[in-house]
Amino acid sequence: MDFILNGKQQQVGICDANLTLLDYLRGDAAMKGTKEGCASGDCGACTVLLAAPGQPPRAINACITPLGSAANKQVWTVEALTGDGALHPVQQALVDCNGSQCGFCTPGFVMALTALYANSQRCGLQQLDRDSVTDAISGNLCRCTGYRPIVEAGTKMLQIAPAAPTLVQKPASLQPLSTNSMQPQLSDGEHSFFQPATEAELQQLLALYPQAALVAGATDLGLELTQRHRQFAQLISVGAIPSMARFEWQDDQLLIGAALPYTDLESRTHELSIPLKRLLHRLGSRQIRNQGTIGGNIANGSPIADMPPVLLAWDADIEIVDSSGKRTWHPLSSVYLGYRLTLVQAGQYIARIRISRAALERPHRFYKVSKRFEDDISAVLGAFSLELAGGRLGAVRLAFGGVAATPVRATATEALLTGSTLSDALIASACDTLKNELKPISDVRASSAYRSEMAANTLRRALLELGSGLELEVHHYPAGNEAALYV
Ligand SMILES: Cc1cc2nc3c(=O)[nH]c(=O)nc-3n(C[C@H](O)[C@H](O)[C@H](O)COP(=O)(O)OP(=O)(O)OC[C@H]3O[C@@H](n4cnc5c(N)ncnc54)[C@H](O)[C@@H]3O)c2cc1C
Ligand code: FES
Ligand code: FES
Repeated sequence: MDFILNGKQQQVGICDANLTLLDYLRGDAAMKGTKEGCASGDCGACTVLLAAPGQPPRAINACITPLGSAANKQVWTVEALTGDGALHPVQQALVDCNGSQCGFCTPGFVMALTALYANSQRCGLQQLDRDSVTDAISGNLCRCTGYRPIVEAGTKMLQIAPAAPTLVQKPASLQPLSTNSMQPQLSDGEHSFFQPATEAELQQLLALYPQAALVAGATDLGLELTQRHRQFAQLISVGAIPSMARFEWQDDQLLIGAALPYTDLESRTHELSIPLKRLLHRLGSRQIRNQGTIGGNIANGSPIADMPPVLLAWDADIEIVDSSGKRTWHPLSSVYLGYRLTLVQAGQYIARIRISRAALERPHRFYKVSKRFEDDISAVLGAFSLELAGGRLGAVRLAFGGVAATPVRATATEALLTGSTLSDALIASACDTLKNELKPISDVRASSAYRSEMAANTLRRALLELGSGLELEVHHYPAGNEAALYV
């Protein structure tokens, strides 16, 4: 495969398709500036920038990104910043604000902030607020400096003019890169990474290799590589297929490509749904949202995935396609068969998600309960779609994550609420019914009793908010500067 690393074209010959970008950088490329902390996408020490052709750079976690995902793209590591020995403005700001002590986490912070710096310049921003900086570094942990000086450096970095143009500001001109997308981008003869450019090619590859693992953002699959040390014989990326990354309206149906990264979805949610926008802000970190997709969130079958309850509350359908090209739409409610078991069979893929305009326009609320605000998996997620007219509830959808082996609807509580007059007594009764209906388990994240109580609390909050006519504040989230985060 070919890609551009810090402005220079790289050709990778025979190579195990299960190699991560981080291992390549620190090993073959001998660029040790990028660190390994957790190897699971949680700490940000491995943050590098990745840009598809013609796209702006985005911060990603190199530790969980298969090297093949960088095929035909540009990658920048911290080594790219110090052209002519001068510090990059981000580095200078961290020095000026005392933003580093032991320094292990620092390259990751520098790269996360560099993505924000480069994209702020692209958008002509003069000033960055605290929220935008916090968003940009939401996937970075520092155990010794403390975040105040780092955030301060982020808010001041745009005021520092670059001493010399850095490689990130001067992208390399791309030489013609490998184009035969039916050939593996990487292979050692036993493990191959494919990056088809169309759904027709994807279907052909799935017909040849029905047991292949699909890769979208690799924010789940990457952990299979680094934590479970799984070796996949064939990995097939869906990340370079334009038809799977669309966001489009067809009549009164919204179609979202299964491989559209969350960051791209986030940039469109302001007009779509403020509750979804708020929720997405709490899904993983900026690095995770730059890579992760709804398709991966559904296909991994996790009971604690954030998007399935939202899509259940909206009565969404998903499109499953097989290797012969046959397409079928299924209600998401029929897709979960058991713990981490879905309707999607080997040799099939999810192409699109469909939501009706009517569902999007119904009042809705999504609440995530987790220990940390950012970059934390839900203990419980409540997603509610409720019609209320003249004090009476119409259609009701109550969906939850984290309370069963799969994302679920609480149909008994829905039945109790549908057609009833909203009152304090009804809310109390609905919460009791819900607690009897859900049977959450206890695990390392939360006890069964806590999950039940939290699920009921999210429902109570939704009913109280909607009953009182409280509108969610329609503000940009994080305030201002969004353009630079979502480019
Ligand atoms: C640090 C960290 C924080 C996280 N935080 C959250 C969080 O807050 N909330 C949350 O819900 N999740 C979270 N996750 C999990 C993960 O980011 C999401 O589940 C994400 O949506 C997965 O999407 P992906 O594109 O990265 O999937 P991948 O990892 O590429 O794939 C996941 C699975 O889906 C399959 N797959 C992918 N695309 C398709 C497709 N189109 N058709 C069929 N199968 C497909 C793959 O084969 C694989 O089995 C987090 C993960 C990490 C590492
Ligand atoms: S090493 Fe921790 S996120 Fe990659
Ligand atoms: S500077 Fe030491 S962990 Fe961040």
